[in-house]
Parts: sequence; structure tokens; C-alpha cells
Amino acid sequence: METATIPQPTFYLFKCEQSAPSGMSKPACVNEQTQDLYNYLTQGLMQKGIMGPVQAIRTACLGRCQFGPVMLVEPGHYMYCHLSKEKIDKIIDNHILNKEPVIEYLIPEQFWAEPISLGK
Ligand code: FES
Repeated sequence: METATIPQPTFYLFKCEQSAPSGMSKPACVNEQTQDLYNYLTQGLMQKGIMGPVQAIRTACLGRCQFGPVMLVEPGHYMYCHLSKEKIDKIIDNHILNKEPVIEYLIPEQFWAEPISLGK
């Protein structure tokens, strides 16, 4: 008997949806000005007909709050920072559809160095 396979998404977009606790001045990815970016992202994916092959995921803090709003694109560990609607449009068109990351929107290299070794 043959078993059906379920294909993987081509891209995962991990959009930080963390807001700062009320009364704290800590920088955070979600505030009054940025709270609609996740919906904007998913609407853009739907309009282009790529929801499914591209999976958008809401995450908690990704540890780069001072560069927020941030979004991690996998595969490849691409961390986009200071997101806006215009940047999301370009990331979808260039990185997702044309497989060309938008280098100028990535977090500066010194803040996104090699992954931490597990020491094994
Ligand atoms: S709040 Fe988004 S990276 Fe920390």
C-alpha cells in the first residue's frame, strides 16, 4: 500500500509578535505603529497565492528587540530588521518569489554572527 506524502513549506517566515509589558520602556517588535505588520504579511502572501508553500508564523521575542520589528526567514537564517510594509513587499517579491535576499534590510552582521556552538 502506497503512503501519501505531505510536502514541506519552501519558506518559514518567523515574525516576532512580542510587545513590551505595559509600563516598560524596553524596545519591542509590536507597538501601536507596527501591530498590523503580521496581517499585512499574510495578506501579501495570500494575494500572491503562496500561502502554504510559504508559512508565516507568529513568534515571541527573537532576541534582537532593538532592531525590531524583526522577521527570521528560513531556510538560511536571514534576519530582517526594522520592518515596514514597504520592506515586507520587497522581501516577498525578491527573497521569497525570486530567491534573492534583500541584503540591505538584513540585520548588521556584527549583531547576527555565527550560531552559538553547542560545544559538542
Ligand atoms: S521583541 Fe521582537 S526580537 Fe525581542
